Parts: sequence; C-alpha cells; structure tokens
Amino acid sequence: MPHFVTENGRHAFIVDGKPFLLLGAQVNNSSNYPAMLDQVWPAIDHVQANTVMVPIAWEQIEPTEGHFDFSFLDTLLTQAREHKVRLALLWFGTWKNNSPSYAPSWVKLDNKRFPRVIAQDGKQLVSLSPLGAATLDADRKAFVQLMTHLRDVDSAQHTVILVQVENESGSYGTDRDYSPAANAAFAQPVPAAVLKAANKPAGTWTQVFGKDAAEYFEAWHVSRFIGQVAAAGKAVYPLPMYANAVLSDPVHPSPPASHSSGGPSQNVLFIWKQGAPAIDMIGPDLYWRDSERYFAALGLYWRPDNPLVVTETGNDQPYARYIFATLGHQGIGFSVFGIDYTGYVNWPLGAPKADEAAFEPFAMNYRLLRPMSELIATLSYAGKVWGVSEPEHEHSQEIDMGDWRAKVSYGLPTFGPTEQPPGNKTPKGGVLIAQIGKNEYLLTGYFARVDFMAGKDREHEHFMMERVEEGRYDERGHWNFMRLWNGDQTDWGLNFTDKPQVLHVKLATY
Ligand code: DGJ
Repeated sequence: MPHFVTENGRHAFIVDGKPFLLLGAQVNNSSNYPAMLDQVWPAIDHVQANTVMVPIAWEQIEPTEGHFDFSFLDTLLTQAREHKVRLALLWFGTWKNNSPSYAPSWVKLDNKRFPRVIAQDGKQLVSLSPLGAATLDADRKAFVQLMTHLRDVDSAQHTVILVQVENESGSYGTDRDYSPAANAAFAQPVPAAVLKAANKPAGTWTQVFGKDAAEYFEAWHVSRFIGQVAAAGKAVYPLPMYANAVLSDPVHPSPPASHSSGGPSQNVLFIWKQGAPAIDMIGPDLYWRDSERYFAALGLYWRPDNPLVVTETGNDQPYARYIFATLGHQGIGFSVFGIDYTGYVNWPLGAPKADEAAFEPFAMNYRLLRPMSELIATLSYAGKVWGVSEPEHEHSQEIDMGDWRAKVSYGLPTFGPTEQPPGNKTPKGGVLIAQIGKNEYLLTGYFARVDFMAGKDREHEHFMMERVEEGRYDERGHWNFMRLWNGDQTDWGLNFTDKPQVLHVKLATY
C-alpha cells in the first residue's frame, strides 16, 4: 500500500516500496466526465506529471440515494494506466470550496435533514453544518462505497495512490456555525485532546481560547467530520488521505472570517491533527504569485507532524519556479492546478491561456525531475536536498550544505564574473542541490548561476571544482555520462538556462 513515513522529523511518500516524488497536475473542476478525458490527456502528457489529481463528485457517484455509479472512475483508471500515471482522487462531497455544490440534489436541497451553517446574524449560509449527524452519515456512506469499489478494482495495481477527502473545507462569511446545536456544543468544555495539544487548562471554548474560540471550535468540528469520513474509508481500503487548505495571508494577517473558517488553515493545524488523525497530510493550496507569501506558506506546512505537498498551485509561469523552494523545504510533492485543454482558465489565479505554451514552464520542471524523482525523494528523506527559487527583490541566495556552500545568482549572462546579479526580467530561476556522495553533489536548475564555495569553517582553504560531469538520468533512474564541463562552462560559475541539464559536481580544496 502507498503510505507516508516519517523519520528524524523528515517525511517520505512510499509508493511501490520506494520514496516517491509527487509531480502532480490537477484537472479543472468539471473535467471529471469520460467525455472530457480526450482533452485532459494531451495536457498531462505534455507536462509529464507522474500523478494526476481528478475530482470524484458525490453527485456523480450517488445521484439517487443508495444507488451508485462508478463508471467514470473505471474509465479514468483504464486511461490513467494507459498513460502510465498514478492518480489522486479528490472527494468532492460535503465541502467543495466551502459549498456542497458537488453533493447530490437530495443532499444539497434538504436543509432539514442536512442542516446548513447559520451565521451570527441568523442568516443561513451555503455551507453544510459540520455538526450535522445525518450529513456525516450520508457522506461517509458514499465515501465508503467509493473506497470499496476502488479496493475491488485497483488494489492489485495501486493506480490511485492518494485520496483527498473534501476540498477546501470550512465556511466563508462566519467564524463558526451559530445554529442552536452548534451554540450548545460551543458552551461545552474543550475536548481533552485539544487542551493537551494547546497546553491549556480545562474550560469552555471561550474561556480557553478567547478571541480564537469560534474558529478553533469550527476547526474541531470540521476536522472531526472529515477525520471520520477518512477513517471509515481507510477501514475498507487504507490509502493515504489528505486535506487541502485555504490559508490566511501569512504576511498581512486577516480576520478569521476572510478565509474558509474551520478548514485547515495554518492557525488551526494543531486542532486538525487532533480532530482528524486519519488525515495523513494537510497541504496548502497556493495561489500567491509573490515569493514572500509563498515561501512563508511552505515553512508553515512543512512540520515534523506534516509532510509538505503543495496540493494546488496556479498554472501560470511565476508559480513554476516554486517547485525548487518546495523541494528545499523537504517537500515531497507539488501539484499544478488546471492542466487540461477543456478551454477553461482561472486567470487571474492561473494563466490567461490553457495551451502548451502556457504549461511549458511546468513541463520543463517535470521533464527535468521525473527521471530522477525517486533519487530526489530518497535523498530528501535522508536530509540531503536543498532548493531555492528566485525571489522578486533579491537576486542572489546562499545555500549552506555544511562542508560546502553555494551562491545562487539570477539574471547573469553565461560568461563573465559573478557580480551584482540583476535578477531575471521576470523571476523564473530555481536551483536544486542533492548530496550524492562525499563532496559530491547533484546540481540542476533553470535560469540561474551557481558558484560553490568551501564551508564557513574552512574559508581559508583554496577551493576548486574537481570534476563537473553532465549526464542524464534514464527512465530507470540510471545516470548516463555525457561529458565533462570545463573551461568557459565552469570559469564563470555553473550556468543554467532553459535547458534541462543535470550535473554531478565533485568539490575539493587544495
Ligand atoms: C482552489 C480549489 O481547491 C480548486 O478546486 C479551484 O476551485 C481553484 N481554487 C480555483 O480555480
């Protein structure tokens, strides 16, 4: 079974018994029908993703209560196998961006049986209440049917390696549910698990958490709901499961009600870890184009108790470079949203066009990384991977690998000294370094120059690059030597352009 492992505070995603680097592409929201797949695969084949994320909608599998239809899933499995990709299924059930829009009509129109969230002013919101026992029961039953079918048709091959339970859960427009049932629960003592995680003495939500009480309460109930759905699914077929998050702005914090309250935003991860232990990973959906917020988010979702996977990011050029910083944060996956040729674009979040040219920056990344993805994931788990992406306002960065350091510069020509890098006209550079032996590093990247140096404690030694080998990893992950770089190719740092070049660099002092 695919699964996550954690050791020494680092994580790996094990697929087919080996560390797996998830190079993902998510299709558009309504591409989950057989008739759309012809417009999906050419885009996936172009970007070379190894994992495709596809919605499975509750309305599609259970249009009438108790009657299930898995024909789309069956078609999807067959075609994914033909295209040699793995799948992550996205369970669009009670929550899809806070709304039950993907729930069947018999759910989303029956307020009595499936109550909605009530705002403080008494207004009924679109979200379903996380305290709705019948909602949990119905969602869980449908999800269990899905996982049962998946077990029956896929447990020999594991084409599906991961399942996302709901999508961007929580509610907009309120900090919590103010229905009578929710108000009664809110007056109760905070559960022991939450107190323990927060290291707080007992009391009601308001007594313990003050101004944060409403959102923490909502996060507890949403996470409990989703955790129970996930646990029931795992009981029949224990695939790893995850949740995706809308974050609040980490640089300019906003009041709680402006993001999806109750969902796994960064401020409530400690509650989600208690409420939903069956959720193995919580991933940030990142649509900030600026590096300041992007880097901050990566730091918030990589935790000793949470593997970092960027579960969604925009499909426009500025986002592509962030795969390098994600790997630098010990990330084990990165997935770009909106990869198909159905014609829909989510600009200004993503690219204004959906075609080969628009997706090319992501294709460049996956073309480069896919052949060596197992090696990178293995070395990352061992703590031997570093990565950086070009920020907007700084044009050089230093990477400290202990014995050695690397200076990364952006926007320099491939000839001439490393002075005052101007930055690329549009930030697009990124560098990945992985230690493959004593004094030996794998180095790759795009639109950047790398100058190695001796480590801080031996700056006085004379540094040299003993050997710079260019080669290629083949489909089986074996290194094939092509040539040595020397002369102009090494005198002015190691310069990466738009070519997918991979180097093995041996460092020395004399
Ligand atoms: C984030 C959601 O999770 C996606 O399903 C999609 O709606 C994007 N936002 C916007 O295109």
